[in-house]
Amino acid sequence: MTAPIFVDHPIAQDALTVLRDARTTGTDFRAALARIALLLAAAASVRLPLAPMPLATPLEAMHAPRLTGPLPCLVPVLRAGLGLLDGFLALMPGAPVAHFGAYRDHVTLETVEYSFAAPTDLAARAAIVLDPMLATGNTASAACTRLRTAGARAISVACVLAAPEGLARLAAAHPDVAVFAVAVDRGLDERGYIRPGLGDAGDRLFGTG
Ligand code: URA
Repeated sequence: MTAPIFVDHPIAQDALTVLRDARTTGTDFRAALARIALLLAAAASVRLPLAPMPLATPLEAMHAPRLTGPLPCLVPVLRAGLGLLDGFLALMPGAPVAHFGAYRDHVTLETVEYSFAAPTDLAARAAIVLDPMLATGNTASAACTRLRTAGARAISVACVLAAPEGLARLAAAHPDVAVFAVAVDRGLDERGYIRPGLGDAGDRLFGTG
């Protein structure tokens, strides 16, 4: 298993505890996930290239750094990945957004893709897959495979919680994909849920289930 890049900022850890708490309301769940998204986005964008640009402050001329090059394509995995999207867009407002729709067959735990839409210039930019839960790793792996087929080269995955099984699976299929995570939990149960985890992220985010 490749070690994830931990986003262990105190605000992320506190927000994760709010997510784990079974008493947390949908509103508070969304807000805590949004706080984590900002910190994941900061970590996942730390190597964006900068170049000095000439400008004039009110007092004098200088060169100051601006982001250069295309922003990464953000790829929320439907549905739960949508809970991370706004935080990433807050830091990278111009980033294009692709969507990967997949569900997990509850019997086989295999990933069944039902939707993929992406900008045509994937080869020209990095891609960041957004999925709060890296559980079996099947969905993240399928999203990376799909993105590669569509031309993406540098891919990373941003999640809140990962299971060791999911990290191992993703690393086996996509050894070059970096994973950003707030925490790695004990493991999966027989239904593929991360334990101790936080339950079904999509259900808690959207009040279903
Ligand atoms: N997806 C979730 O939302 N929760 C889990 O524990 C595993 C996958």
